[in-house]
Amino acid sequence: MKQKSILFTMLIAAVATAFEACMPEEIEPLSRVPVLPSTPYDYATAPMELHGGFSPFGDSIIDNEVATLGRVLFYDSRLSLNYRVSCGSCHRQQYAFGDNRATSFGFFNDLTGRNTQQIVNAGLQKGLFWDLRERVLDHMVLQPIANHEEMGLSDTLEMENRIRNAEYYAPLFADAFGSSEVTTHKIGLALAQFVKSIISVSTKYDHGLKAVVDEGQSIAPQFEPFPNYTALENIGKEAFFRKFFCSQCHGGPNFNGFNPDFIQEANIGLDLQYNDPGVAGTDFETGQPNNGQFKIPSLRNIAVTGPYMHDGRFQTLEEVVSFYNSGIQAHPQLAPELRQQSIVGNHIGPAIPDDQEIIDGRMIPMRMFMTGEEQAGIVAFLRTLTDYTMITDPKFSDPFQSVE
Ligand code: HEC
Ligand code: HEC
Repeated sequence: MKQKSILFTMLIAAVATAFEACMPEEIEPLSRVPVLPSTPYDYATAPMELHGGFSPFGDSIIDNEVATLGRVLFYDSRLSLNYRVSCGSCHRQQYAFGDNRATSFGFFNDLTGRNTQQIVNAGLQKGLFWDLRERVLDHMVLQPIANHEEMGLSDTLEMENRIRNAEYYAPLFADAFGSSEVTTHKIGLALAQFVKSIISVSTKYDHGLKAVVDEGQSIAPQFEPFPNYTALENIGKEAFFRKFFCSQCHGGPNFNGFNPDFIQEANIGLDLQYNDPGVAGTDFETGQPNNGQFKIPSLRNIAVTGPYMHDGRFQTLEEVVSFYNSGIQAHPQLAPELRQQSIVGNHIGPAIPDDQEIIDGRMIPMRMFMTGEEQAGIVAFLRTLTDYTMITDPKFSDPFQSVE
């Protein structure tokens, strides 16, 4: 017993030394100030609405001054324990506010447990994180600041003080909220407004869809060939929506479900056993603990957000499509949409080739038998979902510049 407690004390001492070693005292704020336009950028209006009349902001109304403050906070590395990591370190504009790494570096170069999610049309996302653990963006945005892997600043008083001590914030708070008083609540509101202002509505896909809608009365305009698409992109669109039913999960204006109020997760059979439980809980049908279910991600800007999946296991879209084609595993909680059967509930699933037997109709993972052209087409189609305005617009960029 005694020996154990000595060992324990030694262990604590070792950990404390290691902690000090990676937290040298000289770490200070970087000498940087935000450079902002004299009239705030317009964050409040969308260039067009999403198909079906959805506002990309969801129910939120964006205020330009609040979003401007949010932009500065988003890129300010004062919000991390060692003054070196900001939201923008992992959520990088050029990658549609995702990262180009499987997992990202936090404040002590610790890696995050999951792949950094892209940020897009967040006002329409009713569940946040890969495991949907948070629902309200205004609360959620403060979590990475305190998170021990991400930014590590768990003391909210310290966070508020750091903001108060940076002289550029007083006028920004005054413009946004009518008073320069700094509170955690306001920090959350402003970050959330900026995050929600990062919208994507005008991709090649959105323009193609609009052209079909403007032409006439199609009930399902997304199924029509798009006039602005290449032949291959149209083949891929057909494969995505009608042949391989990707849109059963990645449907709707944001490509993560038809009904923006409906939170959706699925187990897509990446593994037979998952290391990460994902959305925890109990399976309704089987009573077994849920495992391997993750948020259905939006596919907007997907071409620039690789590596893919919650753990960043696939480097390219070609690998993702090849996985869906022939790599789905027979996990007990595999989503019904991805099981091999010709009838799923009341609707007809993809045709099963004659030489395939259905054993019990439920658990056999689907094999899609895509042609090479269909696979290339799906990738080409996914590339039409990139919003080049969003990933280059200066209003979403890092406003900080170094000062001597
Ligand atoms: C060290 C890297 C890192 C930093 C810094 C970071 N994030 Fe994240 N972010 C992630 C990862 C990883 C996830 C997914 C986490 C999970 O699912 O458990 C995520 C998820 C999110 C999501 C959820 C998106 C969705 O569609 O569900 C939002 C929004 C977000 N972060 C905003 C922020 C904000 C705001 C900040 C700054 C206050 C921030 N992040 C700082 C890595 C980071
Ligand atoms: C049963 C619902 C479902 C179906 C059907 C489905 N997906 Fe997915 N998709 C998901 C989920 C859930 C994830 C995230 C899984 C994870 O990370 O564990 C995902 C991830 C992806 C990703 C990576 C996203 C990212 O941000 O890393 C791409 C690309 C993708 N799917 C494309 C497709 C294509 C193409 C099809 C049709 C061949 C398809 N999906 C069919 C649910 C589905």
